[in-house]
Amino acid sequence: MTHENKFGMFIHWGFYAVTGVQEQVYARMDLPREEYEALMHKFDPVKYDPEKWVLLAKEAGMKYICFTTKHHDGFCMWDTKETDYSIMHTPYGKDVLKMLADACQKHGMLLSLYYSCPDWHHPYGYNPASTHQWKAVTENGSIDTVAYREYVRRQVRELLTGYGPIYTFFWDIPPKIKDPSLNEMIRELQPGIFINDRGYDVGDFSTPEREYKAAEEERFTRMTEACNSVGEQSWGYRANEDFYSLRHLTTSIDRIMAMGGSYLLNVGPDGLGEITEDYAARIRRVGDWYNRMEGCLECHEPDDFNYKIKANKAIVTKKNGKSYFHFVDGIRSSSVALQFFPTLPKSVRLMNTGKPLSAAIDKLPEYASNGRAQKFLHITGIPVDDLSNEPIVIEIEW
Ligand code: GLC
Repeated sequence: MTHENKFGMFIHWGFYAVTGVQEQVYARMDLPREEYEALMHKFDPVKYDPEKWVLLAKEAGMKYICFTTKHHDGFCMWDTKETDYSIMHTPYGKDVLKMLADACQKHGMLLSLYYSCPDWHHPYGYNPASTHQWKAVTENGSIDTVAYREYVRRQVRELLTGYGPIYTFFWDIPPKIKDPSLNEMIRELQPGIFINDRGYDVGDFSTPEREYKAAEEERFTRMTEACNSVGEQSWGYRANEDFYSLRHLTTSIDRIMAMGGSYLLNVGPDGLGEITEDYAARIRRVGDWYNRMEGCLECHEPDDFNYKIKANKAIVTKKNGKSYFHFVDGIRSSSVALQFFPTLPKSVRLMNTGKPLSAAIDKLPEYASNGRAQKFLHITGIPVDDLSNEPIVIEIEW
């Protein structure tokens, strides 16, 4: 992914939103097929205004939107010629993807497309080699992954020819069938596109999901885009979602991005087409922190100096000659002490507040070695108690 465009909004939206349960309500609540599929006739998102979504993402500092064109239920959110199981055959009857693509274009937002390999509606959608097949159609007793793949190919071609430039392509649920010709077609239709690793070939980038705890690793070795939702029970709209804390989300974003990854933060618009206030508020609060970082999470390289930091742990990156110390899990006191550092800093700034911090060479008695106080670069006056909801990032110009 390009260095400047690393923070995006994931949007899971389909007629499942009318249930207010989850994007996989059909399988997870074991609804009968007729009951579930009939819900499409109740899908009339009259409040859908994609410009509002785009502006919310933009306000939060996000550079792209990744939209679920078809989730596991097989329902298509664009004007596909391949099936009647689409938005065009709901009471709403409009190409919501086209409307979103136009809104993105108008506001300079990049557009990425999500497409599920499992398909619980298509007669040949069943793939015994893969997962998430619980509600796939098997009653006609036939499995034809080749015929299904041709359907996928025709649909993906529609998606990549009808909606302008596409930034990334997000296959979901690896089919465990190798067919490089699909990604080849994607690249032919959209030169420069980035493709994830959940499709019919390895693709360009990895996709860790939900929790990601770096072990010893401080940098991703492969292009990576992590994804998470604002709530822990669902990706689609959930009426009583258990929302993650601000601290949890900002910590996760800072860790992934400082390690060189991109980040997709998901919301699920409701059955009327709105990103409801409880969801939007989370995006705004994360965005408030993200914007204070002034883009230091993007466009960086690792800082290879062998810093030694007392008591706290940081991932250190570099951008435009300045170093950024990401204290992902916070700082335990109001100061930071560096034992190894290249030279005296020209300036030190706390990104969270934008304010300068004092830094001096100090002898610190508690860090004595052989009974003698040692000298450290001592950065002081960090208002840690005011910043307990977010990771702390310090900028140093050497
Ligand atoms: C998981 C969920 C799926 C969601 C995806 C997003 O695979 O099961 O519903 O679309 O994550 O990455």
